[in-house]
Amino acid sequence: MPELDLPQRQATDALMLTGFWYRALPADRVHRNRLHKATLLDIPLVLGRDRIGQPFALRDACPHRGMPLNCGKFDGENLECGYHGWQFDVHNGQCQLIPSLTPDQNLKVDRIYAGSYPCQEQDAFVWVFIPDPGPSGAGFTPPAEPPEEAPQIEKFSGKYKLAYLQADMPVSIDHGIIGLMDPAHGPFVHQAWWWRSPHSIHEKKKNFEPIPGGFRMSAHTPSSNSAPYKLLRLYADADSITTTIDFVLPNLRTETIRAGKYWFSSLTTVTPISRSHCRIDVVAAWNLFRWVPFVPNLLKFVFAKFVEQDRRTMELQAEGLKHNPHLMLIDDADRPAKWYFQLKAAHLEAKRTGTEMKHPLPGPVTLKWRS
Ligand code: FES
Ligand SMILES: [Fe+2]
Repeated sequence: MPELDLPQRQATDALMLTGFWYRALPADRVHRNRLHKATLLDIPLVLGRDRIGQPFALRDACPHRGMPLNCGKFDGENLECGYHGWQFDVHNGQCQLIPSLTPDQNLKVDRIYAGSYPCQEQDAFVWVFIPDPGPSGAGFTPPAEPPEEAPQIEKFSGKYKLAYLQADMPVSIDHGIIGLMDPAHGPFVHQAWWWRSPHSIHEKKKNFEPIPGGFRMSAHTPSSNSAPYKLLRLYADADSITTTIDFVLPNLRTETIRAGKYWFSSLTTVTPISRSHCRIDVVAAWNLFRWVPFVPNLLKFVFAKFVEQDRRTMELQAEGLKHNPHLMLIDDADRPAKWYFQLKAAHLEAKRTGTEMKHPLPGPVTLKWRS
């Protein structure tokens, strides 16, 4: 049956993709001279900011005997492990001092590294680059060089507002992502009297096209039954409003709405925390309504409501998934989910063979569904 695909048939090592930037913590929660714990892709991390506010991320396990480094002492420059006092430079993880060494012992301290991860602050979040796993025998590896900068939200004017919200989802990264791109759950999960009812369900037709590492729902006039667009119509001619939605590996969903000189842009990520947990972070930027104090709050309220509805649904779904049921993906409503699995497979295959990634979308495609 070619129209059925079984998402759980993925090889288990294909679940969480390395070699990408991931959002670790909201920037306003990472404080100077303090240590914070975070987990990404099952890797325990300790994050902080040095004396001048520069963020850093280390593996939260001392390379000596595994003591969590977040229990150590941090002076704004070096982190001292709480067990035997080894000290590490927080930005590259290099060992600076082993207090137990006597002057005639010539162990090369500077060859020892605590795992250190490239770290960048971007649009309200501290991002961490998770490299491909290196050869075993850690403890002697300097930090990886990320191939590019951490992702940024696209902005179309100098002045804008920025807001974020987060939700923990007790499902694997794959279910988190396909839940995010799934067009058919809207009328059932996101009902509200001020938004839409199940009766508003109608046939939709959308064009998609391949883009590097992902796909785009091509620029179109947004659907008439969604709230941000209803608001936007107060500002601009309905026909001048266009929106594009991109998905790019490993986990980036970008939505851009433009109406004349006004714009609204969001970058939503689904971050793998462990094999069975992920977290959704929505960061939005906009130049609309900047002078109306009430509208940004309303928008945040609408988004928070949405994300909470998704979170609650996935919490329930996790119950059903516990017993590893057989699942299916149907055309056309689940086609984006199929593309996601195909993109992942193509990415991993390209990496394995050292060749160019073969994009699963041959060209533009039109999908139809009712929602
Ligand atoms: S475990 Fe960290 S210094 Fe020994
Ligand atoms: Fe949703």
